[in-house]
Amino acid sequence: MILRAALAFGVLAGPGLGQDFSQVGALFIDRCVICHSGDDAPLGLRLDTLESVLRGSENGPVVLAGDAASPLLQRLRGEAEPQMPLDGPPFLAPDEVAMVEGWVMAGMPAGDVTLAAAPERKRPAPGEPVLWSDVEPIFLKGCIKCHSDNSKLGAPPEGLRLDSLAAVLQGGDRLAVLPGNPEMSEVWRRITGLSDPRMPFDGPPWLPDEDIRLIHDWIAQGAPDADGKLAPIPVGARIRLRGTLTAEAEIDGAAFLVDGSTRIDDRPAIGDAAEMRGTVLADGTVKAERVRDR
Ligand code: HEC
Ligand code: HEC
Repeated sequence: MILRAALAFGVLAGPGLGQDFSQVGALFIDRCVICHSGDDAPLGLRLDTLESVLRGSENGPVVLAGDAASPLLQRLRGEAEPQMPLDGPPFLAPDEVAMVEGWVMAGMPAGDVTLAAAPERKRPAPGEPVLWSDVEPIFLKGCIKCHSDNSKLGAPPEGLRLDSLAAVLQGGDRLAVLPGNPEMSEVWRRITGLSDPRMPFDGPPWLPDEDIRLIHDWIAQGAPDADGKLAPIPVGARIRLRGTLTAEAEIDGAAFLVDGSTRIDDRPAIGDAAEMRGTVLADGTVKAERVRDR
């Protein structure tokens, strides 16, 4: 933040700008390592230390001394898509890009590297509270390259953006998360493969079991924000559930309400493939408007 403020006021402008890694590294920690860190860093590219930046990704080096066409610079300028940082806009300011370019053109000198360590991601143990901040990196690293406005697909599929808590709770054409009810939540169903196609769409690899559990527990605990405040019940939101009828009014363990106004076509038997379309009631239960055999 200090660095960005300094850049905004032009304090750092002048010779030597960005010609050592301490400034570049601070920028990467500010804008990149929420995704580019840890064992699940995208394409194996970690940007939290000078060594890892120089090591590059599973595709090879991303910065080449003196090469203005280095893959990392192309991503910052938007010449290779998706543009980085992936959770932009905002992308980097022109003087921030110039600083990284200056460092690459100068041969990537280490300088006096005294970076604050990138925050290590902790995963709450089973039974512990799971907050948005615990699951946010899973969505950022694994989902938003498609599910955001910076999507490599052009537009987010099914209108579903997953780049902020508000977007996840809002859902797309349909609801994606029903707070308190993971079995009824399309996000959880897609990452486990209960709904087709399984997510992430370009998998395998699928999410690690530990991340699937975290998303399950986060939804089950009411999808709290980073401060623990529970998500509101999305009263009236539309739900579509396609799976196996596991009880008279239950698909894959997700129970719903059927009453006289529910339209039932080709009444499915338990064990059959079925589809339910319904809406969320004030208490968080789902009222089926239509159930049919598939
Ligand atoms: C919100 C998560 C996120 C943030 C923040 C982010 N990235 Fe990325 N980055 C990704 C993902 C996901 C990919 C893989 C995209 C793909 O599969 O095409 C990627 C790919 C890349 C690549 C391509 C590597 C290769 O082998 O081609 C580079 C370089 C890169 N990012 C640099 C950066 C830099 C520099 C920043 C910060 C200025 C940054 N990224 C911020 C998620 C992120
Ligand atoms: C490579 C691109 C890509 C990635 C990565 C990806 N998705 Fe998707 N997602 C899609 C596409 C395409 C669809 C539409 C598929 C269909 O139903 O035909 C989709 C559909 C969905 C849906 C269903 C939306 C609805 O209303 O039916 C959910 C939920 C979803 N994705 C969640 C996720 C989650 C969670 C992640 C990360 C773990 C993820 N996706 C990663 C491309 C992607």
